Order: sequence, then C-alpha cells, then structure tokens
Amino acid sequence: MGKTLTPRRSIIILDFGGQYAHLIASRVRRLGAYSEIRDPETKASALKDAAGIILSGGPQSVYDPGSPAGDPKIFSLDIPVMGICYGLQWMTKALGGEVKQGAVKEYGPMVIEKVGSGGTLLEDCPQRFTAWMSHGDEAKVLPKGFTKIATSKSCAHAAIADEVRHLYGVQFHPEVTHTEHGQEILKRFVSLCHADPWSVEGYAKRIGEEIKASVQDRRVFMLVSGGVDSSVAFTLLNSVLGPSRVQGLLVDTGLMRSDEVREVRFAFEKLGIRNLRIEDASEEFFAALKDVYDPEEKRRAIGETFLAVQKRVSEEMGLTHAEGWMLGQGTIYPDTIETGGTKHADHIKTHHNRVEAVERLIERGLVIEPLKDLYKDEVRRLGEELKLPHDLVWRHPFPGPGLGVRILCAERPAALDEWKMQNAKWEMDSAVLPVRSVGVQGDGRTYRHALALFSGHPCASTMDVWKLATEIPNKVSAFNRVLLCTSRSTVADFVFTPGFVTRARADTAREADHIVSEEMRAAGLYEKIWQFPVVLLPFGLKKGGQSVVLRPIESTDAMTADAVRLPEKALKSMTERIMKIPGIDAVFYDLTSKPPATIEWE
Ligand code: XMP
Repeated sequence: MGKTLTPRRSIIILDFGGQYAHLIASRVRRLGAYSEIRDPETKASALKDAAGIILSGGPQSVYDPGSPAGDPKIFSLDIPVMGICYGLQWMTKALGGEVKQGAVKEYGPMVIEKVGSGGTLLEDCPQRFTAWMSHGDEAKVLPKGFTKIATSKSCAHAAIADEVRHLYGVQFHPEVTHTEHGQEILKRFVSLCHADPWSVEGYAKRIGEEIKASVQDRRVFMLVSGGVDSSVAFTLLNSVLGPSRVQGLLVDTGLMRSDEVREVRFAFEKLGIRNLRIEDASEEFFAALKDVYDPEEKRRAIGETFLAVQKRVSEEMGLTHAEGWMLGQGTIYPDTIETGGTKHADHIKTHHNRVEAVERLIERGLVIEPLKDLYKDEVRRLGEELKLPHDLVWRHPFPGPGLGVRILCAERPAALDEWKMQNAKWEMDSAVLPVRSVGVQGDGRTYRHALALFSGHPCASTMDVWKLATEIPNKVSAFNRVLLCTSRSTVADFVFTPGFVTRARADTAREADHIVSEEMRAAGLYEKIWQFPVVLLPFGLKKGGQSVVLRPIESTDAMTADAVRLPEKALKSMTERIMKIPGIDAVFYDLTSKPPATIEWE
C-alpha cells in the first residue's frame, strides 16, 4: 500500500512478546479508538504523536539477559502509558523502582482488592473483582510518584498509578474475558488518550482514497481463495477501481470445501462481478502431493504448486507486473504481525502471503493489501457493507492449504513405548491411537500421541471426560491430545493403513466437513463457533478403513483456543451421518485446548 493519507493519532501497543498484543489492540478498537502494534524498542521520537501507549505482557523476566526493553524516554512524552504484566514490571524498573520474583507464582483467576477508590483506572470496578493473572515476578519497590491502587493475596502491587503523569500499571490482564470489568479498565485508559476514532465505516471511506492513490493507473491481479479475506478484498477493489481494472483468479486445488467454487462464483455474479477466472488445477495438486507424508513438506508442495499455476495463468493472460499490473492480496492485520511484523511475538508460522517472491514485489511497491490494517471481525463487517452474502462473510476461517492439512498422512503407525505411559491410570477405557499430531508447548511445537477415551455415553461430553482432557496431557507428556470416541463405547483394535493426500481421501474429508457444516447450521451453532476442522485419520477397524475427528474451536485470535462443548443431540446426529460415509469406521471428538494441542492436527 502507498502512504497513509492522513496521519492517525493511535494508541500504540508495544509488543513485549506475550500472546495478547492482538487482543489488546482489537479490544481498544472495539472501544472506538485507533490502535496499532509496534516493536518494544520503537524510539520515543517515533511515538511522540501517539495518543497513548500500552506496554503488553511478555513471557520473560525483566532481569533475563536479552529480555525486551523499551525506550525509557516514552515516559517523558506527556502521553498516557499503561503497562500490563511484564509491561508494568519493565515500567517499574525503567523508572527506578524494583522488580523481584514474587513469593508465589500466580496463574489463573485471582481476587483483586482496590485500595481506596482505585484511582482513575479502576474507578468503574467494584471494591473486589476477579482478574486473570499469569506472572512470577512483581513490582516490590514502586518508582517515585507512584502509589498502589490495588492488591491481591500474593501480590502487593496488583495495580499502580502515577496520576500526575498519567502512568498506570496492572499486574493482571484486563484484555482477557476471564478478567471481570477488564473492559471498563481499558475504557478508562482509552478515554484518557483522545485517540482518533476508529470504525469500519470510516475505514471503508478512507481506504478507497488510499487504493486509488497507490494503484494510480495500473490494474490489479488477485488470487481469490474462496475464504472471507480474499473475497472481501476482491470485492472492495472491484468497487473502488471498477471491474475493468481488476482481474481475479480462483485456483481450484481439489482441496476446497464442498461446493466452494460454485458458491463463490455465484456470490460475485450477484454483485455484477464477472472478472474472476476459475482454473481447475486439482490434478496438479494431487500429483505434487503423491507420496508426501510430512506436514511441512505438504505445505511446501501446495505453496509451490499455487505459485506455478499463478505464474502460468498470469502469463497466459498477459498479466505481468512490468506491464502496469499490481498483485492484490487479502492479507489481514494478524497475518502481517505473525510473520515477524513485531520481533518478539511468538513466531507461529510463516504466512503464505509473505513468501520471498511476494516480499520482493512489496519492496517494489507492486502489492496492494487493502485489508492489512483490519482484524477478522472488522473484515466481516466490511464484507457485509459491500453486500457480500451473509453465509460467505461468516464462513469459518479455512487454512491456505485447505483440506491438505486436514487429511493426516503417515507412512507407518506411530507406536508408543510402554514406559512413556508412566504407569498412568484413569477411570475410563482408553486407547493410544496409531498416529501423532502437532501441539504447542511454550514457544515450540510438539509432535505427540493422541489418546482416545471410550465412555458408556459416547456422545455426552460429561464433566469426567473434560476433566481427563486437561489432566492427561499434564500427567503424561507423551500425549498432547485427548479425544472421546463418539461412534462406539468400547475399545477397539485399530488397524493402520499408510496414506497420503489423494482425490478419494479429499472427497471423503469434504463430505464429512459438509455434514458438520450442515448440522452446525441446523443447530444454530455455526456462527457461535470460531472454526471447526474436520480431520481424516489413516486407520479404522479393518485395512483401508479411516476415522474422522471433530475439532470445534472457540478462540479470538487462533493463538490460544478451547474445544467447544457440543450438545449431545448435534454430536450424535453428526456422528451417525459421518459413519454412513463409505470407508469410515470411527468418529472422535477432540477435547483438547491449545495449548497443549494446536487447532489443526498438522
Ligand atoms: P494451529 O493449528 O497452529 O492453527 O493452532 C492456527 C490457525 O492457523 C490456521 N492454519 C493455517 N492457515 N496456512 C494457513 O493459511 C497454514 O498452513 C495453516 N496452518 C494452520 C488454522 O486453521 C488456525 O486458524
């Protein structure tokens, strides 16, 4: 994108490396104020026009060598600053106070008690409220000018303030929904900042001018995936530049959701958008995935095939960048940050919108990403404003490699050594499944086993089952997932069959996914769930048999997630219908949160 036309007075979030910087930024926007995320080392001189600064949490101790530190001059800019968790500790240290390891590490919900009225920041909170804590260190000696405004049982300085300089700190996380009155605390801080107002409607107006300024007299070529982001970006470009200056390409990979291609084409046609070429490249994708078992190898094979198809079609259509064309992308704000937009955010994955070839085009000013400042919920609101169909705008996020990462591939069964079970016992029948899947622990990825539970009520997710889902991975490190078998109540001998991605497996995965979407819509649950991967596993009750995993997810930003508790009726009906798909021998319900598991299985 070209330069922003008008400078914005934003609330800047300095990202000290926690998982929460995005959550803070999107909460602040929902309160109607502009907010953006920056590196913690950003110089005070570059922040002097900010309306306010929030210092995020982070996993380190301020005394760790190499732990992130900001520019202490930000405290002399005469703008409100609020430190959260690590942010409070760094602020304390930077202003001459003292941080020490607390007597007790606090994780989870804690009761916070205000001191007096709680000052400006906590004025709207009751005298006692529950807040989410996650810290080992705490401020022991406060810097000059600060007073404590709240305490907790084991943290004397749960919240602090220097009301004269408008500097605030909270040891807990006001941005997470588990903190009662967290929203009121953020609202109080935001109201001190007088940031420029933020709204999707205002954004839509301004972005039109920005698109025209950066495209000038060129045309835009864009890959449309069928997902929400690229569909909204493509529609926006069409409405601002007119269809004669935009060309879309939808590559049918053979790994898409049921009826996806037809629905997307129909949605655009209804809006009068006909400049979308559809290229069936499924044969090429299946050929590239033959005999590929490793998840990262699969991603690479899919990514490279995409690029090859894009290159071939753009040459065929005479669309090369040298001839007055730009590349359009549906990149949204979290995508730019996850790929190292800020240095200290946990690096989860390299987004396909930031591969090397695209980075080179970005450097040459040949990429336009009209949604790159928006969060998913904002993209959806913009999509509705552009009159895209409701069902398309509210579709669950779908990974770039599509069903490719939901068809688990393995050459050999994964055996688990007896000793790894560590004599663990639980009061429910269980079986170690012959496959492993990806999980997260700390900042790293794990590749571990899944344990299936068999209960007398296979479709009722009882308290016992949920308790075991948390306990087992904590107790036995060999497991990062716990599932409930919903298709049977007794243990079976599962038979493994080697498998990679084929058209037949993609068709089976697509059918199961379609059943799940239909059932969730019928139960009125589809839009209440953030994402619902349906995963195909290479084992069943006989050679060649397969199994299906249901993975309904509740999340705000995909960084952390919980498994959704599905009602028995919906679970039963989905299971029964999936069991009728030829070759499916078992259905499982994934109960694990992220961490220790990830959302996808690969
Ligand atoms: P995990 O499995 O890491 O997923 O908990 C987090 C979010 O990222 C999506 N995901 C991907 N999206 N390309 C994508 O475009 C990928 O290779 C990919 N892998 C995971 C996943 O669906 C979830 O929303």
